[in-house]
Amino acid sequence: MKKNKTIQYTCNLCGSIHSKWVGKCDNCESWNTLYEENNNFSSLNDKNSKVIELNSLKQTKSTKKRILTNIREFDQVCGGGLVPGSVILLGGDPGIGKSTLLLQVLAKIVDDKYKCIYVSGEESVQQIKIRSDRIGVSEKTISLFSSTDVGSIIKTVKKNNNIDILAIDSIQTMFLNTLESAPGTISQVRSSAQELIKITKNLDINLILVSHVTKDGQIAGPRVLEHMVDTVLYFEGENSNDYRVLRSIKNRFGPTDEIGIFEMTSLGLHEVINASQIFLPNHGTQINGNAIYAGIEGTRPILLEIQALVASTSHSNPRRSVIGWDNNRLSMILAILEKSCGISLGNKDVYLNVVGGLKIKETAADLAVASAILSSYFAKPLPNKSLIFGELGLSGEVRPIKQMIKRLNEGKKQGFKNAYMPPSNFENKNNIAVNKINKVSQLIEVFNFTRNA
Ligand code: TYD
Ligand code: MG
Repeated sequence: MKKNKTIQYTCNLCGSIHSKWVGKCDNCESWNTLYEENNNFSSLNDKNSKVIELNSLKQTKSTKKRILTNIREFDQVCGGGLVPGSVILLGGDPGIGKSTLLLQVLAKIVDDKYKCIYVSGEESVQQIKIRSDRIGVSEKTISLFSSTDVGSIIKTVKKNNNIDILAIDSIQTMFLNTLESAPGTISQVRSSAQELIKITKNLDINLILVSHVTKDGQIAGPRVLEHMVDTVLYFEGENSNDYRVLRSIKNRFGPTDEIGIFEMTSLGLHEVINASQIFLPNHGTQINGNAIYAGIEGTRPILLEIQALVASTSHSNPRRSVIGWDNNRLSMILAILEKSCGISLGNKDVYLNVVGGLKIKETAADLAVASAILSSYFAKPLPNKSLIFGELGLSGEVRPIKQMIKRLNEGKKQGFKNAYMPPSNFENKNNIAVNKINKVSQLIEVFNFTRNA
């Protein structure tokens, strides 16, 4: 049969295919991420194909019970534990704590008499032992070995029957000896993952793939793997603090955008149950430019401190610097404030920071951001024990948002007394004084900001 040999270039970050090498990927706009792939294909040969039996949806039994790790934050992010036979991708920056989390999760699972195999392509068995000593799980019956050869891993898994969970740390170190490219390249990562997923689906084993991610896309894999797995979890955090957030980006068996919060300690990761408290270090002290925002992350209400600093500058191009929020959204809020509140920010640098390293995605934070900016601009703190939430429209109107009662309830739990929020007609059963704000310009009167600041 005639074989067609083509060379194509695949983006390491998003997996899009290009016929020619270019410096910048057209699809994800990242630089220097295209790698050459040989693609030999021939037309379909259906000699070995067979007719597949149909299943009836009605008569198919639901899957077995979920496997609980009893690490509440982890189970919740997975949508209530691991679904037997499913594939999880655990991604995150190198050094963020993926291997530690994985070892802790496996240690909890084996407690419930499940059989786990931990394959490390990065660390020796001795090194894993040292880590397990440190986090206090060295007595657990986890089977481990160190290998990077997918063929050997699959043979080992087949030989040891009754395995419930296979964990691979990390997929970037794995290779298939049938491919010429080096480990870590997109074709190796994709093919290794494909082979591992195939065998674990056949044997009804849970597969956890650890994958390194870097923002500049210099490490191959994650985006390509996202399509192949059932659940994608990202472990995030800032190096400057010890809090780590596990976030579900995709979940075939549960809600997405669910988060779990952990604190990194010398003895491993600890769950953070009362998240609002850790993200409110200045709660109770009134500081110019600080606003407390009542957010919802997944299904969890969480109070966050938003800090703004508005400072004069002589530069013609003032700085807008944002950590933990969307840069474009900040520009929009500044424009709304200029137009609706008559303040001038053209000669001011504006810095915005979400305390604790969490990233806010909700537009519901608009009103809190606007309040923090106004508070810094007028050099007057916002009232004590006050929550703020609401979305802003372009003409400065405050729009209702989802789950307002849940946000108020969390505020009440944390001892807040006032809420500044969009107009709505629900029955307020909390003893929080609700201040309904129709237009962002009302904030100036409500917070008593004086214009000669
Ligand atoms: P590690 O789990 O190896 O990160 P990754 O697998 O994502 O590369 O953790 C990185 C380092 O941080 C390692 O030296 C151990 C340390 N660490 C702690 O000391 N405590 C913790 O709770 C965690 C998660 C990590
Ligand atoms: Mg690791």
